[in-house]
Amino acid sequence: MKVLGVCGSLRKKSNTNQLVKKVALSSGCEFELVYLSDREVEPCTGCLGCMWSEGECTIKDGMQELYEKIMEAEALIIGSPTYYMNVSGAVKCFLDRKFALYFRGIGPPGSPYTGQRPLAGRPAVGIVTAAETGHEWAIETLRHHFEINQMNVIREIVEVVGINDVNDMPDVMKRAERAGKQLGEMLNCIESR
Ligand SMILES: Cc1cc2nc3c(=O)[nH]c(=O)nc-3n(C[C@H](O)[C@H](O)[C@H](O)COP(=O)(O)O)c2cc1C
Repeated sequence: MKVLGVCGSLRKKSNTNQLVKKVALSSGCEFELVYLSDREVEPCTGCLGCMWSEGECTIKDGMQELYEKIMEAEALIIGSPTYYMNVSGAVKCFLDRKFALYFRGIGPPGSPYTGQRPLAGRPAVGIVTAAETGHEWAIETLRHHFEINQMNVIREIVEVVGINDVNDMPDVMKRAERAGKQLGEMLNCIESR
């Protein structure tokens, strides 16, 4: 699997998740979508067990499978709705738990705290939707997350959609398609124009 799309909204007919899917599909790459609504992802307890065990998280829940999928993927798409001016709680739990991956392999000599950043250089796309406002902070959270993992943020999709369905918003879908194509070109899944 080349591209992993993390669908962060827990809503059945989610706009965010549809945009994640559109980007993944438009990349022309082999992809997998994971829905946070389908799995338990407990909040990080801050035990720091991951720091001393080469990235092994002590919480044995639905995140364990996601760790492996994230490590395997060549590129990552993360989508979140805006909740109270930031990413949703479900997405924040996921981001916090993803911290464990810093410590996969071994940290740089003398400093286990800074970890290894195994996702460094991999392309990333952040997607945020909002009804009205606060999306700036939500996308900033995703951006910081990617950057601290030294990932390569190639596109950000930030859409204020009100209470509409993105399928009725061709401009929005077009932007997602363009982001997907850019990702596909980068990963050599489709030819560059
Ligand atoms: C608990 C909650 C908090 C929300 N907070 C905001 C907000 O701060 N700003 C905003 O514009 N929309 C807010 N919304 C609306 C959602 O961001 C918006 O409907 C989003 O597009 C939903 O994405 P989804 O269709 O992928 O679930 C909130 C919705 C909920 C349920």
